[in-house]
Amino acid sequence: MIILTSILPMLLSFVWVNNSTLLVCTIPFSRGAPPKKPLVPAGPKILSNEQKDTIQARTYQDLLKDEYDESLFEYYATSQLVLVSLDGTEKLVGPPAIYTSLDPSPDEKYILITSIHRPYSFIVPCGRFPKKVDVWTADGKFVRELCDLPLAEDIPITHNSVRRGMRSIDWRADKPSTLVWVETQDDGDAKVEVSPRDIVYTQPAELLASEQPAVLHKLDLRYGGISWCDDSLALIYESWYKTRKIRTWVISPGSKNLNPRILFDRSSEDVYSDPGSPMLRRTPAGTYVIATMRKEGDQGTYLLLNGSGATPQGNIPFLDLFDLNTGNKERIWESDKEKYYETVVALMSDQTEGELYVDQLKVLTSKESKTENTQYFILSWPGKKACQITNFPHPYPQLSSLKKEMIRYERKDGVQLTATLYLPPDYDPARDGPLPCLVWSYPGEFKSKDAAGQVRGSPNEFAGIGPTSPLLWLARRFAILSGPTIPIIGEGNEEANDRYVEQLVGSAEAAVEEVIGRGVAHRSKIAIGGHSYGAFMTANLLAHAPHLFCCGIARSGAYNRTLTPFGFQNEDRTLWEATSTYVEMSPFMSANKIKKPILLIHGEEDNNSGTLTMQSDRFFNALKGHGALCRLVILPFESHGYAARESVLHVLWETDRWLQKYCVPNSSDASENLDAHKDDASIGTVDADSKAVSAAGGVPEWADDKIDIFPSPCRSSLW
Ligand SMILES: *[C@@H]1O[C@H](CO)[C@@H](O)[C@H](O)[C@H]1NC(C)=O
Ligand SMILES: *[C@@H]1O[C@H](CO)[C@@H](O)[C@H](O)[C@H]1NC(C)=O
Ligand SMILES: *[C@@H]1O[C@H](CO)[C@@H](O)[C@H](O)[C@H]1NC(C)=O
Ligand SMILES: *[C@@H]1O[C@H](CO)[C@@H](O)[C@H](O)[C@H]1NC(C)=O
Repeated sequence: MIILTSILPMLLSFVWVNNSTLLVCTIPFSRGAPPKKPLVPAGPKILSNEQKDTIQARTYQDLLKDEYDESLFEYYATSQLVLVSLDGTEKLVGPPAIYTSLDPSPDEKYILITSIHRPYSFIVPCGRFPKKVDVWTADGKFVRELCDLPLAEDIPITHNSVRRGMRSIDWRADKPSTLVWVETQDDGDAKVEVSPRDIVYTQPAELLASEQPAVLHKLDLRYGGISWCDDSLALIYESWYKTRKIRTWVISPGSKNLNPRILFDRSSEDVYSDPGSPMLRRTPAGTYVIATMRKEGDQGTYLLLNGSGATPQGNIPFLDLFDLNTGNKERIWESDKEKYYETVVALMSDQTEGELYVDQLKVLTSKESKTENTQYFILSWPGKKACQITNFPHPYPQLSSLKKEMIRYERKDGVQLTATLYLPPDYDPARDGPLPCLVWSYPGEFKSKDAAGQVRGSPNEFAGIGPTSPLLWLARRFAILSGPTIPIIGEGNEEANDRYVEQLVGSAEAAVEEVIGRGVAHRSKIAIGGHSYGAFMTANLLAHAPHLFCCGIARSGAYNRTLTPFGFQNEDRTLWEATSTYVEMSPFMSANKIKKPILLIHGEEDNNSGTLTMQSDRFFNALKGHGALCRLVILPFESHGYAARESVLHVLWETDRWLQKYCVPNSSDASENLDAHKDDASIGTVDADSKAVSAAGGVPEWADDKIDIFPSPCRSSLW
């Protein structure tokens, strides 16, 4: 009882050590009162780099700021571990410390214990603080220290750079208590050329620290995980971002000669060639290992590969029986492609009692169509008999007859693009004419044009509508172009972002021409929106392609790239290495070109790297300084996504008001407003803020309200 009231859930709370014992993080008895903020600082705040280290860090948020923060962090994060049995006995184990992970071995004999300690850092998050990993017995006795890594402030920002020393420390899923970990050979710096780059080690837990660990495998790319099966089989993954190379090795971990060979070697962005991943099964110890299959009257051992089955017609998920020795594949199941989209969720057959035969296979699947929501089924071999086990109601019957189509079109430079076009129920373009349209997207980076042009997703997927989904505007009779691909491609040695604006505008132009060509959207009534990197896209499009969109909605974005000087998204050059790219990509620098109405929304407590709330504040001021029609909405208590009911409803209300005001009305009215606005600006008396608020003020005139899923103007007790 005492324990339950003093669990310390700040970093972690408890684990089951075995069937009858918990290891619990509790508040130390000796904790006392929280540290008090000194009325007067003890002295100036000092950051020093007198050792002249080169330390580049992404723009992290919510970092420790000063010594007082450090003492608060220590106060709230320190816990005392207690072993608690179901019979109520408690045993304090180990010293109070900042424990960050407790991981019992599969045989329940040992526990891997990770803790962090001083010196902390003011420039990187706590995951990079000095980190100690120990092995203890399950009853709380220290066995040995595996490592005590120093503070890792200096991990380079280049993709695939990692922390030095032991990392990815874990238990072998197929052994009682064998440790496995990786150590980099390039000093953690992806720019250093070495071979091998990573070495994978294993060692039984009970071995003394003085004994040398065994080298399991050496990799030239960056380690990406292992799927274990048994001593004769494990798969090791490695990849490299710059080249998009991704490789799978097969090894026999128990033999003297591991016989490593490459099983798959492909480009991670080539979805059409993805062979799928091996299905795993749960062991009695609760770990997951590769499920191997047998066939009646056949000596072969097969993997069951579960693939998303990307094709130019969309994803057709499959299960392949894969012969490890010959590489032959037999497709034993694939999703219906005419109407349904079905995926394999889990293996239901258990292998613990003897071999798993294909004829006895049972899998859990989820199945949906454009208009039928997901239901779960059990498929049983032979015959693949399907038994439906759920009957969830349709989540939004009002929109159940919406129209959804996956469309393909081409960018000026020949790159194939795709998007999903949604149209309201009962809409007929011939009868009803073009609609106002909301385009919602998020750009992606690619190494090759072909990969960028590949179709991702399935036309038969159910149109799920989240709380702030643009699809809600189908209820307002908008056409929605969802996720039109905006590939930013850098082939060969070219950096994708060096032609960001050109490719962004080219992709958007093609999308706009496509919806107009299909007769579903009105040229002057197309709005653009996005979240995070999609907000950055939105602002850039309004600045660089003002002819395409009538207004924009930019949520939780970053606009001034010089505020993220050590990289952002997939850009890993610094501001000083790619100055013009940073400047040209920053809509902040083009704020003077934005003449279309733009709605900025941001969580006041955004903690996502790079997208500081200040980004929207400053951008708004920049827009206002040029007389742009803009509005800034800061949501109290919200982080990078919006959670509170009040915030979600308010975001919907703001968005709807913006669209009704600047997208639905007759376009010449809207452009008149803007022109008037510009004139005002030229005489230097305009206050964009009050103008925007008054322009947008009052209750909007709703379109014909068939479906009442929109909140009325939301004035919660919060604001
Ligand atoms: C199988 O692949 C699908 C993608 O088609 C994925 O969503 C699913 O999680 C995978 N299932 C398992 C059990 O790995
Ligand atoms: C944009 O970022 C740069 C560099 O971090 C900074 O000097 C400048 O003040 C920023 N602009 C605004 C308005 O925040
Ligand atoms: C940011 O905050 C959310 C909750 O507001 C939390 O779930 C998430 O872990 C935080 N992320 C970081 C990087 O601190
Ligand atoms: C748009 O508004 C202008 C001026 O108010 C008017 O002349 C024009 O007929 C309107 N167009 C449509 C399609 O309603």
